[in-house]
Amino acid sequence: MKYFVFCALFALTYANVDVNQLKKLQALPEFAGVSLVELEAQTRLTVPDLIESEGYPSETYEVTTEDGYILTLHRIPLGKNAKKSNGKVAFLQHGILSSSCDWIITGSSKGLAYTLADEGYDVWMGNARGNKYSRNHITIHPDQGSEFWKFSWHQIGAIDLPTMIDFVLNKTGVSSVYYAGHSQGTTSFYVMTSLKPEYNKKIKVQVSLAPIGFMKHMTSPLLKILAFFTNTMEVLLNLIGVNEFLPTSDVGKVLCGDNSITQILCKNALFVVCGFSHKEMNATLLPTLMGHTPAGSSTKQLLHYSQEIKSGHFRQYDFGLIRNKRVYNSFFPPDYRLAQVTAPVYLLYSHNDWLAAEKDVSKLCDKLGNCKEKFVVPNKDFNHLDYMYGMSASETVYPKVISIFNSH
Ligand SMILES: *[C@@H]1O[C@H](CO)[C@@H](O)[C@H](O)[C@H]1NC(C)=O
Ligand SMILES: *[C@@H]1O[C@H](CO)[C@@H](O)[C@H](O)[C@H]1NC(C)=O
Repeated sequence: MKYFVFCALFALTYANVDVNQLKKLQALPEFAGVSLVELEAQTRLTVPDLIESEGYPSETYEVTTEDGYILTLHRIPLGKNAKKSNGKVAFLQHGILSSSCDWIITGSSKGLAYTLADEGYDVWMGNARGNKYSRNHITIHPDQGSEFWKFSWHQIGAIDLPTMIDFVLNKTGVSSVYYAGHSQGTTSFYVMTSLKPEYNKKIKVQVSLAPIGFMKHMTSPLLKILAFFTNTMEVLLNLIGVNEFLPTSDVGKVLCGDNSITQILCKNALFVVCGFSHKEMNATLLPTLMGHTPAGSSTKQLLHYSQEIKSGHFRQYDFGLIRNKRVYNSFFPPDYRLAQVTAPVYLLYSHNDWLAAEKDVSKLCDKLGNCKEKFVVPNKDFNHLDYMYGMSASETVYPKVISIFNSH
């Protein structure tokens, strides 16, 4: 176990698009004969490029948080197939290691952002601090050391989300948004609305895709290892100077098999943490997926989750007894007060999800101030990332999201 972790640590790098990954892709039947140049070109498209290539209107905004992070918002003001606007504003927030790209990556016939836009929604997509669209600060450069990366999803929920939502409300003139979040996009929502209950009234309804509050029962092997070493891990990571979490190669060995798709996915941090299911994986989508994920997160985001696994609590970042006393005036971090989340929340979960286990989702529903429904995705292969990338998401999940939004 220890040996594995040390190997894993030494394998941590700051890789971006990996040419070897692309070469491996060329070996798949789908891409036999596709040149490296073409594959690379696909990975270079930005979210606005992708939206425009589908013939949809796209807008980009920047907003600065009170602590200096410059965040990017992407918007599809109206779908190309929408007859007219329904006057409603949707706000979509991505998960860990991801970006606004999640909502559009599967293309205009499948992506949730396009579907909502075609329903008449004005669709806004947030980007959390630290991902490739929000890797920017008024004074600190992200490559300048640890200062930029001193945040977990606590700051994303406490600062980024309120800043982005206020910006959207101001631009659109509506008083509340229809919120859908995936994974960390749900965690950060619960952080925001429990710490700043005045934001509940700015949320018409919240749909949680693969909700993450409590994590005691999750089954991701890599996160289990992180949780096991959660105290020493931070020291080790600080020593080797890793602020941004982007592991490659050896970390993936927990997942690797002989199958060539598996070989490619197990080199990608996102899939290593979250797992994947063969039945839902669209091989044709792989080059785009590899070019856009992982989009960047701080190591602390992962560590904060690993603390949750260990403690069984949904609570603020654990700095250790002494610093906790100084920061929180108590030896243990305070729990997030979920009863303060009074916006209506719908929890969508699935049985093959490594991270959002049914028991944890049930506990979350019990604790939330206004949990409306727990909905289990009727597809037993469905896993954590399939809400975004899975081939059947547009049939098994999105109609439910639309019907919840439309009924509020
Ligand atoms: C948006 O913010 C500006 C500047 O603070 C303010 O003048 C304006 O009235 C706001 N608009 C709306 C619709 O809230
Ligand atoms: C697989 O991905 C490709 C490329 O994005 C897309 O054209 C195709 O419709 C997808 N197939 C399914 C079944 O989702």
